Amino acid sequence: MTEQRVALITGSSSGIGAAIAERLSAEGFRIVVNSARSAEQGTDFARSLPDAVYVQADISDEDEARRLVDAAVERYGRLDVLVNSAGTTKVVPHADIAAVTPELWRTILGVNVIGTWQVSAAAAPYLAKGAANGSGPGNIVNISSVAGSRPVGSSIPYAVSKAALDHMTRLLAAALGPDIRVNSVAPALTETPWTQDSPFFQQIAEKVRQSTPLRRVGTSAEVAEAVLAVLRIEHMTGAVIPVDGGARLI
Ligand SMILES: NC(=O)c1ccc[n+]([C@@H]2O[C@H](COP(=O)([O-])OP(=O)(O)OC[C@H]3O[C@@H](n4cnc5c(N)ncnc54)[C@H](OP(=O)(O)O)[C@@H]3O)[C@@H](O)[C@H]2O)c1
Repeated sequence: MTEQRVALITGSSSGIGAAIAERLSAEGFRIVVNSARSAEQGTDFARSLPDAVYVQADISDEDEARRLVDAAVERYGRLDVLVNSAGTTKVVPHADIAAVTPELWRTILGVNVIGTWQVSAAAAPYLAKGAANGSGPGNIVNISSVAGSRPVGSSIPYAVSKAALDHMTRLLAAALGPDIRVNSVAPALTETPWTQDSPFFQQIAEKVRQSTPLRRVGTSAEVAEAVLAVLRIEHMTGAVIPVDGGARLI
C-alpha cells in the first residue's frame, strides 16, 4: 500500500483553509489543521476529518512556525504539501493614510508575509524529500488575493502583503525547483466568516454582483478546487492562479 501523503494547511480552522483541508482530506491526504487562536474550533474540525491532527501555532512567531512544521512531521513522518492560507487584515479605507500605523503594517506583514515565509522555510527541507526518494516534488501553495495585483482590498497593508506574497511565490519557485513547486491561488471576494458580517465586504459583494464578468461572489470550495488543480498539474510552478469571477478585469 502506498503511504498517504500529508498536507499542512495554515489557518484551516475556518473559511478557505478549512475548505482546502476538507478537499485534500477527501483526496486521501492526512491533514494538519492549524490556527493561532480558535483551538477548540480547530480541534473539533480536525476530529471531523478521517485522519487529521490540530496544531495551535501563531505563524507570525518564528518558534511557533517551526514547532508547527515539526509537529506535523513528528505525527505523520513526512510532509508533501504546505498550503499557506493563514492571513489577517483590518478594514481601512485606502485614502485614510493616518489610520495606517507602523503597528498595523507590522501585524499584517508579520502574518501574511513573514509568517508565510517562516512556515515555508521550516517546511522546505521536508517538502524536498519526496523528490529525493522518487515520489515527486513537494508543493507550496500560497493563498493570495486579487488585491495583490489590483488597487483594491480591505486596506493598503493587506494589498501590499498579497503583492509581496505573489512575488515570494515566483522567487521561491525559481529557488526551490526542481524539488519543490511553489504557486499561488488568488481569490477575489469569497464567502467566509472573514467576509460574512462585515458592512465593508457586503458593499464589495454588491459591486461584485453588479459589475464583475461572472456577477457573483466565490465560494471556499472553488478556491479549494483550484488548490487541488495546482497540485495535479505537475508542470506548473511560480504561477499565480486567479479564482475571481473576472474581478481582476474591472
Ligand atoms: N474571504 C475572502 O474574500 C478572501 C479573498 C481573497 C483572499 N483571501 C485569503 O484567504 C485566506 C483565508 O481567509 P478566510 O476568508 O478563509 O479567513 P477566515 O475564515 O478568517 O480564516 C482565517 C484563518 O487564519 C487563521 N489565522 C489568522 N492569523 C493566524 C496566525 N497568525 N497564525 C495561524 N493562523 C492564523 C485563523 O484562525 P485564528 O483566528 O484562530 O488564528 C483562521 O483559521 C487569507 O489568507 C485571506 O487573505 C480571502
